[in-house]
Amino acid sequence: MQDIVNTDEMKAKIESAVKDISSSVELRETKMKFLGKNGEIPSLMKGLKDLPSEERPAAGKVINALREWAEDAFGKCEERIKNAELNARYEREKIDVTMPGKRRKKGAFHPDTLVVDELVSVFSGMGFEIYEGREIETDYYNFTALNTPKDHPARDMQDTFYLGGDFLLRTQTSAGQVHVMENKKPPIKILSPGKVYRPDDDATHSPMFSQMEGLVVDRGITLCDLKGMLDEFARKIFGSGVKTRLRPSYFPFTEPSVEVDVSCFECGGKGCKLCKGTGWIEVLGAGMVNRAVLENCGIDPDEYTGFAFGMGIERIAMLKYGINNMKLLFEGDVRFGKQFRE
Ligand code: DAH
Repeated sequence: MQDIVNTDEMKAKIESAVKDISSSVELRETKMKFLGKNGEIPSLMKGLKDLPSEERPAAGKVINALREWAEDAFGKCEERIKNAELNARYEREKIDVTMPGKRRKKGAFHPDTLVVDELVSVFSGMGFEIYEGREIETDYYNFTALNTPKDHPARDMQDTFYLGGDFLLRTQTSAGQVHVMENKKPPIKILSPGKVYRPDDDATHSPMFSQMEGLVVDRGITLCDLKGMLDEFARKIFGSGVKTRLRPSYFPFTEPSVEVDVSCFECGGKGCKLCKGTGWIEVLGAGMVNRAVLENCGIDPDEYTGFAFGMGIERIAMLKYGINNMKLLFEGDVRFGKQFRE
């Protein structure tokens, strides 16, 4: 029997192999070599059939004992390898919790965002819903429906990027008014912030800028409602002592139309550099929705009236934060941006 099952030799072979194992991969391979389906120990087992039948049981026992011994040897090796690998991983992933943390640079909101957020919060408090229109509009929504048909002189007030066909980049968020009135019956009370485009470019104009539009339509809405709402807006945005005043103006989509000034929040109305000595600062355009616009949108002007207003976000931001060049708002210079961190 010793001839076919030389356990000492096999044990010595396994012991020396196990000693050299230094990773779980090697362990798996070596274990397969001895104990795998076609490994050396199962081969011994298979060799039993060549023995005389009376010798087989004893030889079988010896081989089984050898297999158990080998399994035990590999088990111990596995434990050793696992510990070593775990220790190596601990070493690799060790962190020193006493090290100072890495400080992340904090971002800041763009002044436009700050102004829009503040306006949205003030007007939602008065019950306005937000409507975000589209930046690509048709000539109809941007002009014609707003009582500014082709060749109307008021089109000169807003240079326009035409896109071809009937399409253009909206020059005013007022275009959204028409979509809202076409799709919703009064009462309507919406606020519509968004980007608008005009080919102007200097210290106070940019080809892309932002506006905020407001529209209220219901039975019995008057200019007094507009004035009351504007007073509330001016106090919340520019400070509690600020007053508003309306000056006659012209927009094709409102009648009457007004320019709205707020009393200078810098000098309290005495006259300073910001208000150019006048005590007043122009902040927005507004008016009572023109009957023709209501009619264009399928709203009966004998039953309903409304007011609308529109303001330039950059202008409000420049006034509020004392920014003297509009370009600063579009250059993305972090030295400028970080000054608006709260
Ligand atoms: N859309 C005008 C502009 O861009 C601003 C404006 C004026 C909007 C009067 C209005 C309004 O809703 O009633 O200059």
